[in-house]
Amino acid sequence: MTLSQKHVLGLQDMSAQDMLCVLDQAQEMKEILSRPIKKVPTLRGKSVVTVFFENSTRTRISFETAAKTLSADVTGFSASTSSVQKGESLKDTILTLSAMAADVFVIRHQASGAAEFVSRYTDAHVINAGDGQHEHPTQGLLDMLTIRQHKGRIEGLTVAIVGDITHSRVARSNIWGLTRLGAKVRLVGPETLLPAEVRQLPVEVFHDLREGIRDCDVVNVLRIQLERQEAGLFPSLREYAQRFGLNSNALREARPDVLVMHPGPMNRGVEIAADVADGEFSVVEEQVSNGVAVRMALLYLLLGGSDDAVAH
Ligand code: CP
Repeated sequence: MTLSQKHVLGLQDMSAQDMLCVLDQAQEMKEILSRPIKKVPTLRGKSVVTVFFENSTRTRISFETAAKTLSADVTGFSASTSSVQKGESLKDTILTLSAMAADVFVIRHQASGAAEFVSRYTDAHVINAGDGQHEHPTQGLLDMLTIRQHKGRIEGLTVAIVGDITHSRVARSNIWGLTRLGAKVRLVGPETLLPAEVRQLPVEVFHDLREGIRDCDVVNVLRIQLERQEAGLFPSLREYAQRFGLNSNALREARPDVLVMHPGPMNRGVEIAADVADGEFSVVEEQVSNGVAVRMALLYLLLGGSDDAVAH
């Protein structure tokens, strides 16, 4: 199995066949992660460089874990401790790191389009680990893997994405990925947190939480991104929590076998009640575990690891 594309910049441009290839490969990678010794030699001699201009816990650590499990060499770059602080540009940063023989760049940046920009200045593969409000494709893929694991399919499901859609790259990757694989997507939130282009997206829009999640198979709750917001998009966190916070009462509107998802980090008591985050329908921790498997699959598929090395 291989991917038809050199880079993973977003799910809007990824074919259904490539997405399914990643999900199937990730399923195989989960088996490696269940072994007592979680290490295979398949990417020995390959170099993965994680380039993070924004903070991260899940994405960065899981990429590093994925690469190390496949025996690749991993180098971490943090903008906050680099020559970016002396004024070095993104282009010069990538040219410099490329000169040190990276095979894959994993990049997170606050600017939409940064991953595509980086791909113009390197021969290495580029994986977008979140660019501004544009896309977070590996989050979209791990969310789909988690859904497929529980429901056995993506096609025909109804998935509600609740909250701060405007600022969410996770929402955009989920919308493109889920709809391409045949799910129906609903966006639920106040008018002020829905993007201007919402009418052009392949989604249904709801401004009432209970109505929006009624009979849904999956409710994916987004973090309120206070760091990206101008003031005044909603009156107060308390009011937001009352109208759009997912609590156990509201959740009764969804299907009895609903999955509750959240990409993390969570604002407990704001967009999601603590008992729902920790409750029987929550798959938040599985999402994190599946993140490692999906990132292993992508590194393996892009770098052409050998099947023998995965098997032994
Ligand atoms: N979901 C996600 O991207 O989390 P981090 O910001 O911790 O990587």
